[in-house]
Amino acid sequence: MEVIIKKTYEEMSKAAAQEVARLLNTKPNAVLGMATGSTPLGLYQELVRLHRNEGLDFSQVTTFNLDEYVGLLPDHPQSYHYFMHENFFKHINIPKQNIYIPSGNTSNYQAFCSWYEARIEECGGIDLQILGIGSDGHVAFNEPGSSLTSRTRLKTLAKQTIDDNARFFDKAEDVPIYAITMGVGTILEARQLLLLANGENKAWATAAAVEGPVTGMVTASALQMHPLSTVFLDDSAAGQLKMREYYDWIEEHRPGAPQL
Ligand code: F6R
Repeated sequence: MEVIIKKTYEEMSKAAAQEVARLLNTKPNAVLGMATGSTPLGLYQELVRLHRNEGLDFSQVTTFNLDEYVGLLPDHPQSYHYFMHENFFKHINIPKQNIYIPSGNTSNYQAFCSWYEARIEECGGIDLQILGIGSDGHVAFNEPGSSLTSRTRLKTLAKQTIDDNARFFDKAEDVPIYAITMGVGTILEARQLLLLANGENKAWATAAAVEGPVTGMVTASALQMHPLSTVFLDDSAAGQLKMREYYDWIEEHRPGAPQL
């Protein structure tokens, strides 16, 4: 696991966007895994800027989103369908038919989840998965206690997640209790993982994920078992890392590091 700490949210977002751009420049038809929430907004803004100003091309890209609330229609302003369209997809040149987001309104969740998993496979698997982290250490909506081999499924949100996400809704009671989410096992099959975290309220979860034991109680800790995962942090999210000096030391010596 590589840990890259930047001073600000903007620098963190730009560094993560460079990683995505690097992939698209070598593999224009890459399959990207997308996350929602406040964390990746800066990354999406930077990708949109690279598209507009530097011609970063999404015409052959396919995307799969991590999760969606159950019960919200795609045009609901708090749905992840709406979020992705407003904050990213409508600003780039990705074909509509290449966009996959879990349905929060299917009549058969089990069948939908199996279809979603199969579709990922048919598209060749996810090349790069973007991830945020919950204050309880979740990735996607894999709440504490999730199996580290879990697949796409229906999941009950934890009280802490509902409280955290209440800021996007008029009142906490409006936050859906159920979500459909890729599993930890699904996420670990992506060829590359980028996890982003910013702000002091992510410091505990980040330290637990990066330096704590691998446990289903902090599902982001499963990234430790992935061969190619990078964690991009801003200064405050890195606040509780014990090995902070080492991560900074690596960064300082990166320009002279042997080329792989
Ligand atoms: C969203 C997702 C969640 C968020 C996490 C952090 O698609 O999968 O795991 O990444 O809840 O949310 P923010 O970024 O709003 O703090």
